[in-house]
Amino acid sequence: MRRTVVAANWKMNMTPSQAEEFINAIKTDINGADNEVFIIPPFIAIPKVISLLEDTDVKVGAQNLYFEEKGAFTGEISAEMLTDAGVEAVVIGHSERREYFSEDDEIINKKLKKAIEHGLTPILCCGESLETREEGKAAEWIERQITQDFDGIGREDALKCIIAYEPIWAIGTGKVATSDQAEEICAKIREKLTQLYDQEAADGIRILYGGSVNAGNCAELFAKDNIDGGLIGGAGLKPEFTDIVKTGSPN
Ligand code: 13P
Repeated sequence: MRRTVVAANWKMNMTPSQAEEFINAIKTDINGADNEVFIIPPFIAIPKVISLLEDTDVKVGAQNLYFEEKGAFTGEISAEMLTDAGVEAVVIGHSERREYFSEDDEIINKKLKKAIEHGLTPILCCGESLETREEGKAAEWIERQITQDFDGIGREDALKCIIAYEPIWAIGTGKVATSDQAEEICAKIREKLTQLYDQEAADGIRILYGGSVNAGNCAELFAKDNIDGGLIGGAGLKPEFTDIVKTGSPN
């Protein structure tokens, strides 16, 4: 039985004051859900969001970290800084980081290891471009990403991770993957995890779908066997996020 995860990745949205206003408006509604809920604000809003959610079961994540322990890396944030601030999870390898900030699977692998070392729950993102999908190579692409991103990560550590399948063509476009398309790739990810580890480990790892998820389409997506929740962008900035949080799922 995998507990469904609903995580709001705010990306580069919400000033600390806007975050305060929004959290105050939705706080009661997102607390006490059957699903495990994460709010993932920009770094600068994290302390405020953590203090506002202190008396709830909602967890706070970060959108990135650096793979070095500490030192002369101007502009970067370390795993230790995140855990010290009370952060519990971290998004790693989002397609926007891969595309705009040249993060490759080697960097992502190092970040994954650093997050695990510090007890942060990684939310590892993978996803193919429209071009790759149209060439019929989506599954192959994702399997390669998973293999490289988990390189050198042992079974027990892999079990601490959450994976998010986010097809790039569905992010922020309003063009959601059909629940069958999303399920097909999430099943392939689980198959790959079975090969890398074993069936029991693969069955224990939560796999989310992300890309234009909203209150209207989340129930159908979350009901799929291999989809264990959602990584939500745009809809995570709106009051409708509370409806997504409350969406039940038997798997
Ligand atoms: P949207 O829900 O805005 O498509 O974004 C998805 C996403 O990238 C979450 O990380």
